[in-house]
Amino acid sequence: MNNNEIKTSVIYCGDCLKHLKNLPDDCIDLIYIDPPFNSNRNYEVFWGDTKEKRAFEDRFGDAEHYVNWMTPRLVQIVRILKLTGSFYYHCDWHASHYMKIKLDQMFGFSNFRSEIMWERAIGTGSSKSIAKHFGHNNDSIFFFTKGKKYTFHRPRFPYSEDYIKSKFVYSDERGQYRLNVLATYSKERFEQWQKEGRIVQKPDSKYPYYKQYLDESPGVALSNIWTDIEPIISNKGEGLGYPTQKPIKLLERIIKASSNPDDIILDAFCGCGTTIVAAQQLGRKWIGIDISPTACRVMAKRLKDVCGLKEGVDFVIRDLPKTWEELKKYPPFEFQNWAINALGGIPSAKKVGDMGIDGYIYPAEDVSMAKNEGSDLFGELDKRIPVQVKQHRAGRPDIDSFETAIRRDKRNLGFFVALTFTKDATREIDRVKREEDLTIIPFTVQQILDEEAKINDFV
Ligand SMILES: C[S@@+](CC[C@H](N)C(=O)[O-])C[C@H]1O[C@@H](n2cnc3c(N)ncnc32)[C@H](O)[C@@H]1O
Repeated sequence: MNNNEIKTSVIYCGDCLKHLKNLPDDCIDLIYIDPPFNSNRNYEVFWGDTKEKRAFEDRFGDAEHYVNWMTPRLVQIVRILKLTGSFYYHCDWHASHYMKIKLDQMFGFSNFRSEIMWERAIGTGSSKSIAKHFGHNNDSIFFFTKGKKYTFHRPRFPYSEDYIKSKFVYSDERGQYRLNVLATYSKERFEQWQKEGRIVQKPDSKYPYYKQYLDESPGVALSNIWTDIEPIISNKGEGLGYPTQKPIKLLERIIKASSNPDDIILDAFCGCGTTIVAAQQLGRKWIGIDISPTACRVMAKRLKDVCGLKEGVDFVIRDLPKTWEELKKYPPFEFQNWAINALGGIPSAKKVGDMGIDGYIYPAEDVSMAKNEGSDLFGELDKRIPVQVKQHRAGRPDIDSFETAIRRDKRNLGFFVALTFTKDATREIDRVKREEDLTIIPFTVQQILDEEAKINDFV
């Protein structure tokens, strides 16, 4: 299939099983996935929500359950991969041994290419020195291909000083060189090298040697042990605060090794979008999928900030939730993030102990300040508006506690999003506006959905 026939530069929101099923056979050049072992645990950590964490723990229970959950998704991955395509599966010791067997069955044992051992943690885990085992410092990345013909550019690195000193011990007017045994060679090549003065016959060897000059040597070929890519430190450098975020260098290496410019790269568990950002920067086409609307929003922001892309013009997000039926299944923190993002606000990173404020909307001139949330540097300029979100029908007590939160935050305006509002709640909103000069603007979920639908019609 021609790469131009597939819609790329798209982030699909939803279970990858559904979205993978919609893609045609044999259409993707490279697929990388980094699925969560314990379901959605990563973004509970991301948003620091311990309540949610409890609710999600053990969803997959054991490895067998996990493998069974992954299998239908892998069936789709194998189907959509081109016959010349490559697949990388990123996991750790929890799943690696079970998944290797599954992947061998699905791709064929002879299509296994490498198990990359990425040293993702530096140090020996000495803070947990009471543990009676060695530190779990590596992730495993399984590399499979669909067939025998596939793209592969093996990365190479310059030789170390020590290596050069010990191996390239000769030199002539052409430069520094090493001597390699010439055990098999064609007559033409031998004659050519002889003409160039490259052949050396040692008296004690039955084979001739040839001179390999340093400046034309390819460097050390990369093995499956990758120790030179540092893990992300949350909130530092490229870190976005997403604990499962992978370094961009890791994805760049995989993409460069197993694809060419204009190839299509797909990540079905895209998280905060490392794969699609690397693909974009390397001139590849891309498709990202993630079940979390929050992750999709983080990706959109990253594509804008890092790659200068404009949502709706250079890329699109498809299938963000459109109905209450979809939304009510969301865990509360996802629902809050959805609502606040839809209003153009920024959700609070802290979901426990948020003092009744789930996020803020920053009037246009204040947006650059959003980054400093939590600091006291706003002073007079701080015009941010608090938002409260409830996934149910809001009653009078909900409004009362939001009033308190708004006052504590020293403002007189707030947005309240709820499924609907009781009569008592609406009466209280009217009363505080009239009698106490405090404005609470109510939004129902349906109002937001209707607004989103209008926007989506444009893009
Ligand atoms: C380990 S993270 C991926 C991190 C990513 N490699 C990065 O660098 O940001 C796994 C992601 O899979 C997503 N996810 C979980 N279940 C999913 C599903 N069924 N379909 C699509 N995405 C899913 C989660 O929302 C999460 O963002």
